[in-house]
Amino acid sequence: MTTLNFALIGSGSIGKMHAKHMARHIDGAKLAAIADVYADGARVCAEQHGVPRWTTDYRELLADPKIDAVMVCSATATHADIVEAAAKAGKHIFCEKPISKTLADADRALNAVQNAGVQFQIGFQRRFDPHFLRVKNAILNGEIGKPHIVHLVSRDPGPPGVGPIGLGGGIWFDMSIHDFDVARWLMACEPVSIYTQADVLIAPGLEQYGEVDVAVMVLRFENGAIVTIDNHCDSAYGYDQRVEVIGSAGAISIGNQANDNAILSNTHGLHAAKPLPYFLERYDAVYCHEVQVFVDCIRNNTPTPVGLRDARMSVIMALAARQSHAEKRVVMIG
Ligand SMILES: NC(=O)c1ccc[n+]([C@@H]2O[C@H](COP(=O)([O-])OP(=O)(O)OC[C@H]3O[C@@H](n4cnc5c(N)ncnc54)[C@H](O)[C@@H]3O)[C@@H](O)[C@H]2O)c1
Repeated sequence: MTTLNFALIGSGSIGKMHAKHMARHIDGAKLAAIADVYADGARVCAEQHGVPRWTTDYRELLADPKIDAVMVCSATATHADIVEAAAKAGKHIFCEKPISKTLADADRALNAVQNAGVQFQIGFQRRFDPHFLRVKNAILNGEIGKPHIVHLVSRDPGPPGVGPIGLGGGIWFDMSIHDFDVARWLMACEPVSIYTQADVLIAPGLEQYGEVDVAVMVLRFENGAIVTIDNHCDSAYGYDQRVEVIGSAGAISIGNQANDNAILSNTHGLHAAKPLPYFLERYDAVYCHEVQVFVDCIRNNTPTPVGLRDARMSVIMALAARQSHAEKRVVMIG
């Protein structure tokens, strides 16, 4: 089978990381071109990773019949338009989360994908992490019985920027969206309701953009389980990513990953290394693996494991979480 030609659209922080992996570690695909509206960003990324072509207009790449697939890693507000255009051009699509911040745009893009019949995967990389997978398998294998309560902790290590783009997509579309997807994946059913308590406790000024920097959500799922999600944008001790599930026959939890797992004991106490600094370090190998799975799905013509419904449901949950905060009430998720 021939090697697939990929185009990267958006060469910012996550785009550079995907370019690094595509250039070295992905079997069956190669990075053939990069597009970024910021010309120097596209050029430098292409030079660093030996990519032969770069442009400031992704449409040029969509018009090229030699490009088989795109990685959409541009700013969140551009995802829906680019996904729609790529689908209409017949390209397979890997899109970073979130697909959109509105359901209308998400549906426009996802319908275009469905109509085109191309492969689509959304960038919820935690599903591919061996630690998260261990929790999923414990539930699947019945090791903890019927799940009753899930605690998801996701805390970022630095204060959010304050401004119109502040947190990028805002806490619900940038951070919580990963937890919404993990909750659906672990429970293997849909959420029924959500209640949010959230505030601006870290970065005064965020309020004027309708954003918050701490949030706790409580969700009920169709299987009866209760899920809590705890998001904080400035964890003093670093990037914090933990899960605990308690069920009828036991519990399983995963903690943070560090550069080493040594514990130093002395008169001041017990000391361990801080968690890996941020998402690029914590999920580096996982980002590579999720793209390899996507490439394999295209080559073998098998369904991608995180697809259209997952992209759409995560947007619905983020909108419901924000609505619950705004209206100070439980929101039912229909
Ligand atoms: N899965 C994850 O864990 C994860 C982590 C970080 C970011 N993301 C997502 O990836 C996306 C990008 O985030 P980032 O942190 O790399 O942002 P970034 O600002 O570092 O990079 C975005 C890049 O997109 C470019 N861009 C904007 N509009 C464009 C267009 N129309 N065509 C081509 N390029 C365009 C910008 O010039 C910039 O270089 C966001 O949607 C974010 O939510 C996902």
